[in-house]
Amino acid sequence: MSGRIQSTMTEELKGQLAVVTGAARGIGAAISKRLASMGATIILVARDKSRLQKVQQEIAAAGGTAHTAELDLLDESSIVSLARTVETQHHRCDILINNAGIGYAGKSLIEMPSADWDTLMGTNLRGPYLMVRALAPLMIRARSGHIVNISSLAGHNPLPNGAAYAASKWGLNGLTYSLAEELRPHNIRVSVIAPGSVNTGFSHSNKDPNKKLQPEDVANVVAMLVTQAPQSFVSEVLMRPTQKP
Ligand SMILES: NC(=O)c1ccc[n+]([C@@H]2O[C@H](COP(=O)([O-])OP(=O)(O)OC[C@H]3O[C@@H](n4cnc5c(N)ncnc54)[C@H](OP(=O)(O)O)[C@@H]3O)[C@@H](O)[C@H]2O)c1
Repeated sequence: MSGRIQSTMTEELKGQLAVVTGAARGIGAAISKRLASMGATIILVARDKSRLQKVQQEIAAAGGTAHTAELDLLDESSIVSLARTVETQHHRCDILINNAGIGYAGKSLIEMPSADWDTLMGTNLRGPYLMVRALAPLMIRARSGHIVNISSLAGHNPLPNGAAYAASKWGLNGLTYSLAEELRPHNIRVSVIAPGSVNTGFSHSNKDPNKKLQPEDVANVVAMLVTQAPQSFVSEVLMRPTQKP
């Protein structure tokens, strides 16, 4: 299956609850739709209410279930209250996808204002930490769960004029591998996906959009990770488009 959203509903994740950050568009929207098509109920997290509602409606039209949570990852108290809502209304969190991320491409590190550094790190690295801190206790209580962090090939390679972004993704990789060891005894699996260029509004490079990875390619990998047989987990998946864009 290439590129497109799986249109048929299955029941592989029936009864499960998935929280997806950055679900308003791009990769997060594709992951949300894919997990919903597998029967999970999705909590769609982002700041833009109307875009979240659009994704929610698309999921409902395809026969799935999603709720919206308008939230800024920079705001710790909003994350704490989201976790409280998940606990009181859904009593579980089976899957957490830390996907939301930003980049300030094209600026050398020494030109980058420190406020931009803080916002970038707050979104890309502190955000996942706060989401895990808020929601992993529900997984620990259930002795089950899967956390997937969306990193980047920039978390493995140098990225001139994107040093802060690269640092956030190298950091996210380190966080993921270390957290995986902390949560293994609780039967919780933690994975990271590192895609190359994906065809979303994220970067305005002049690469050929048709040759880039599609958001659904990343969603396919998430689907694979969360349906892995219980005795194993995949630590990391690196993804590249077949044709160089
Ligand atoms: N596109 C690529 O080429 C590529 C390649 C490798 C890795 N990635 C990674 O993949 C992830 C998704 O990227 P994408 O291409 O789908 O980006 P995108 O289209 O720009 O979407 C980013 C999402 O994150 C949300 N978001 C941003 N800041 C937020 C905040 N402070 N609080 C809550 N939500 C926030 C946005 O929603 P709101 O604006 O409504 O909040 C949006 O839903 C990112 O982590 C990115 O680093 C992307």
